[in-house]
Amino acid sequence: MPKLVLTGVGGGIGGIAADYALEIARPDQKFLFTSTDLSKLPVSKVDGWKAKGAEVAEANYDDPESLSKVFKGAEAVAFISTWALGHRPRQAANVIEAAKAAGVNRICYTSFIGAGLGNDSEEARQRDLKTIPFLPRDHVQTERLIRASGLQWNIQRDYLYQDNCAAFFSQSWKFCGDRWLNNTDGRRGAYVAREDCGRVFGALLVGRAPPNTCYTVTGPEAVTDRELFEYMNSVSGYKAEFVDMVDDELAAWWRERGLPDDAINGDFSKLPMKLCIPDLLCCGEMVAQSHMEEVTDAVEKLSGRKPLRYQENFKKYEHLFPRND
Ligand SMILES: NC(=O)c1ccc[n+]([C@@H]2O[C@H](COP(=O)([O-])OP(=O)(O)OC[C@H]3O[C@@H](n4cnc5c(N)ncnc54)[C@H](OP(=O)(O)O)[C@@H]3O)[C@@H](O)[C@H]2O)c1
Repeated sequence: MPKLVLTGVGGGIGGIAADYALEIARPDQKFLFTSTDLSKLPVSKVDGWKAKGAEVAEANYDDPESLSKVFKGAEAVAFISTWALGHRPRQAANVIEAAKAAGVNRICYTSFIGAGLGNDSEEARQRDLKTIPFLPRDHVQTERLIRASGLQWNIQRDYLYQDNCAAFFSQSWKFCGDRWLNNTDGRRGAYVAREDCGRVFGALLVGRAPPNTCYTVTGPEAVTDRELFEYMNSVSGYKAEFVDMVDDELAAWWRERGLPDDAINGDFSKLPMKLCIPDLLCCGEMVAQSHMEEVTDAVEKLSGRKPLRYQENFKKYEHLFPRND
């Protein structure tokens, strides 16, 4: 019976991917789901997976021995990137090495839009990493490691989540004086629901895509940040202003207020969002540089469901929408 391993089931994508993989699995497939810390997961969630026949264990990308243990006898491994910006290629290398040593055939990975800048042609693969925008840089390296591994692979390149706007950026607007300080230059981006990315990842794990394929995972339509802002405020009644800024101006504004440049060692304790300066800037940059304009059919093709519209996805975040004091 083919064993399929999914790491990171404690996260937003991982939990959905696990549920969806179990829903669509063939009867001859069995699953091993891992998390760095099972105690943080609701017992009912873990029991639900076990009741459907999945095994559940702990594993950590920074502990190669834990990976070797869970990869033993696996046909495929699906792994999710972490928030450890700059350290992620090392973590990916640990996963790939352990998978190869365990005799795994296929590896699946949640990459990011822009990774094609360093991977989609021989010329791109020669591109110096320093010239790749900050957020895709780790993913470019990880995709290169995957391609060089000799394993079969499936990669999904997720656009920025719709969820970021409702759950991260909205939390900074009051701090910014009831303003969204924004560097997308009025361009459109086809933001995707994180839930759809999770379903696509579950589909890749169970083998719905041919080997060695890469999918760009987008929402149903390209929208501006201003549209998202106005929509959220029309729901909450919040009176606030949308302010366009260029990158340097935005970085200076946040630096003055203590937003760190370093995601891992920075102090975010007095700040409304845990995005370091390069991360914050690059989110806008990806839209401003038109990396998110294209709409693809990957979500529908792989998950059998049309991608969620932001209006639908935002319902679960309405309690987070800012309101005037
Ligand atoms: N496209 C976008 O807009 C966007 C936005 C934010 C983040 N991201 C990236 O996409 C990833 C997945 O998104 P998400 O929303 O699911 O993130 P999330 O809910 O914050 O989850 C983080 C993920 O990283 C795993 N993880 C953390 N440290 C680990 C370690 N040492 N070893 C193994 N696994 C580890 C977690 O697994 P456990 O919890 O099970 O330990 C979890 O699956 C993020 O981690 C980040 O790289 C993308």
